[in-house]
Amino acid sequence: MKSVSVKNLTKYFRVHQKEAGVAGSLKSLFHRKYYDSKAVDNISFEIDEGELIGFIGPNGAGKTTTLKCLSGLLHPTSGEVSVLGFKPFDRKNEFLRKISLVMGQKNQLWWDLPPMESFLLNKEIYQVSDRNFKKNIEELVTLLDVKDVLNIQVRRLSLGQRMKCELIAALIHSPHVLFLDEPTIGLDVVMQKNLRSFIKEYNKRFNATIILTSHYMGDVEELCSRVMIIDHGKIIYDGSLEQIIKKYAKNKLLTVIFSKAVEKEKLQQFGQIKEYDNLKVRIAVAKESSNKVASKILNDFPVEDINIEDPEIETIVRFIFKSKKV
Ligand SMILES: Nc1ncnc2c1ncn2[C@@H]1O[C@H](COP(=O)(O)OP(=O)(O)O)[C@@H](O)[C@H]1O
Ligand SMILES: [Mg+2]
Repeated sequence: MKSVSVKNLTKYFRVHQKEAGVAGSLKSLFHRKYYDSKAVDNISFEIDEGELIGFIGPNGAGKTTTLKCLSGLLHPTSGEVSVLGFKPFDRKNEFLRKISLVMGQKNQLWWDLPPMESFLLNKEIYQVSDRNFKKNIEELVTLLDVKDVLNIQVRRLSLGQRMKCELIAALIHSPHVLFLDEPTIGLDVVMQKNLRSFIKEYNKRFNATIILTSHYMGDVEELCSRVMIIDHGKIIYDGSLEQIIKKYAKNKLLTVIFSKAVEKEKLQQFGQIKEYDNLKVRIAVAKESSNKVASKILNDFPVEDINIEDPEIETIVRFIFKSKKV
């Protein structure tokens, strides 16, 4: 069954255009000029139940806007969105009880209250039974390891502890579809790892459908087999992570360790030198010729070790975004 189905979704924001300078400000006060900013520009995709999808793209690409349309916070300008068979913007209770949107940079916890109070509030809002509440809280608190902070004022918690509690607040009603918007932003590496394994676990245990946006390719690499890349409101890639390498990577990375120093000049013919010291070099070599280059180097130089790898996803993705920019 499809959990999410999006067809030709478009979301424009009407933006007031101001001309430069004081005169411009005055003029635009009386003659308001508007233009439509295309935040999401005719995107389509489908997501199966239980999929965990990485949704990536540079700042301003349209990720949050898409998630807001999917969770019913924004009305699409045009196109069709269906989540669990509901039209999100109708915001039916039955729909809201089955989904959750978590935004890393926004909080729903009450700042002056301990997290437990906010959880109880959500219990009421989502009409969770006492039994399910108790069961879910116990499970989530254990999974996220936060039992010691439940009764401490939110404002006194660390960012990581707070984010974990945000997640619990968002998951008390056991949503079947989860939109996670930059959940790991600003967290330290350990906490990012913690959260990642939690997301993975939640996905598995409840067969939950999850869309995750993140700045960190690490999140996506570890969690998602399918990735959608959005740029300027358009989906420019939808497929597996490995395929990104196949499709976009033009080079391989050759690392050679020499047993005797080799001059840099002698290596420049093979490709772009990324890193060099006398005994070690990293060269970006055209994909097609990487094997040939490797054997030539083996032949011509005193090689101790040689290694050919694909470039890191992070590098490729950064390259994709850069090359699309005008
Ligand atoms: N409420 C709004 N009014 C006007 N423009 C907006 C609004 N929200 C987002 N935008 C614009 O829409 C584009 C997409 O934003 P967003 O979806 O937040 O991107 P992302 O989450 O990928 O960083 C950006 O150009 C942003 O400035
Ligand atoms: Mg965003």
